[in-house]
Amino acid sequence: MPDGTQRPKANTHEPYWMPFTANRQFKAAPRILVSAKGMHYTDDQGRQILDSSSGLWCVNAGHGREKITEAIRAQAEVMDYAPAFQCGHPGAVELSARLTSLFPGDLDHVFYANSGSEAVDTALKIALAYHQLRGDARRTRLIGRERGYHGVGIGGTSVGGISNNRKHFGNLLAGIDHLPHTHNLSEMAFTRGQPEWGTHLAEDLERIIALHDASTIAAVIIEPVAGSTGVLVPPKGYLEKIRSICDEHGILLIFDEVITGFGRLGDPFAADYFGIVPDLMTTAKGLTNGSVPMSAVAVCSQIYDSFMQGPDHIIELFHGYTYSGHPLACAAALATLDVFAEDDLFNRSQTLAPIWESAIHSLKGLSNVIDIRNIGMMGAVELMPRDGAPTTRAYAVYLACYEKGLLVRQTGDIIAMSPPLIATKAQIGEIISILGEAICETD
Ligand SMILES: Cc1ncc(COP(=O)(O)O)c(C=O)c1O
Repeated sequence: MPDGTQRPKANTHEPYWMPFTANRQFKAAPRILVSAKGMHYTDDQGRQILDSSSGLWCVNAGHGREKITEAIRAQAEVMDYAPAFQCGHPGAVELSARLTSLFPGDLDHVFYANSGSEAVDTALKIALAYHQLRGDARRTRLIGRERGYHGVGIGGTSVGGISNNRKHFGNLLAGIDHLPHTHNLSEMAFTRGQPEWGTHLAEDLERIIALHDASTIAAVIIEPVAGSTGVLVPPKGYLEKIRSICDEHGILLIFDEVITGFGRLGDPFAADYFGIVPDLMTTAKGLTNGSVPMSAVAVCSQIYDSFMQGPDHIIELFHGYTYSGHPLACAAALATLDVFAEDDLFNRSQTLAPIWESAIHSLKGLSNVIDIRNIGMMGAVELMPRDGAPTTRAYAVYLACYEKGLLVRQTGDIIAMSPPLIATKAQIGEIISILGEAICETD
């Protein structure tokens, strides 16, 4: 009988089914990263690759932070695992206290999961259960947004609005509607920061409410800045309007801050940056600096308190994961918060943002560049799609960047970037100059 120790059948990449990857294309010419430190990866050819996208928007404090590594190692020696149901452990208790003091407004409670996708499904379920508990069981509709990305769970896929992520998976959840996205090249191309145009698009929420009636709508979920679709910056006043319409109609507002959390915009959260407090907020990625999978859903007191009713022995929320608040993840998150504070990284992010803005906008005028946008330490360069072959131009740019020692993120015909917040001005310059060369060399 095979016992797991036998040699591979062949020295091949074939068994590995890679996520969000053109597997056959990749396996024909694999890119294998073998180590990472600071702003760089090293690949299996020994090349240094500058990381312009914090891994997948998660390594906010740069790679290989010793304090985080050491905290994970120390925790593994003391206690590798503790059941999350009916037992606690010191790390989860301490992390909850520290996170809730960092969360904005009255987001005073936190529920742990392991990924952004799980955080989103958790937040949606809490929203549904909250209304039911209050005797408002008709409020079951969930509103997402076109081009939104909320992970790959069935809930997140349903409220998400990227066509390729939805179209193969049937009808998804019933009772979902979508706000329009806010991107309009003829109105906002090459805007620095928040566009002036597009605030009125928030009023579509009124239209959706008129269609379904507010009494059927549980929650609106949006990314304050849509990241995965290619950095769509909210128009001025847009998020404020969404918040006020939700308030007026008793609809919960969920901010999906899986990307924008932990300093990406220079404040701890986008909620702080925009001065808008949601009712629930999902976070992940930067929470552990990408080191151990973990996500956290911030919940306001009013929602939490409404669950804490009835007999004490009743489980208030029938939801949770084997690895909710995993000890290694908690240790990593606590050390990450220390690193953020010691390096004053959120302020550093604020200081870098104008440097980032002028660097990325210096690519205006290069051939095929049809838009450049930015906010905080996020930015994107949109390219003209090739006739009949959408996404291939940006993929060619992605490959050219890699060959020149730069890792960028490609989404559709957009190059999206979000460097670690430890980047130096020179490294920002290097990112932009390599990307510029790659764009110029790609037809
Ligand atoms: C806004 C947002 N929500 C949810 C997710 C899903 O996170 P994960 O890939 O950890 O499941 C992502 C991932 O990029 C994201 O950007």
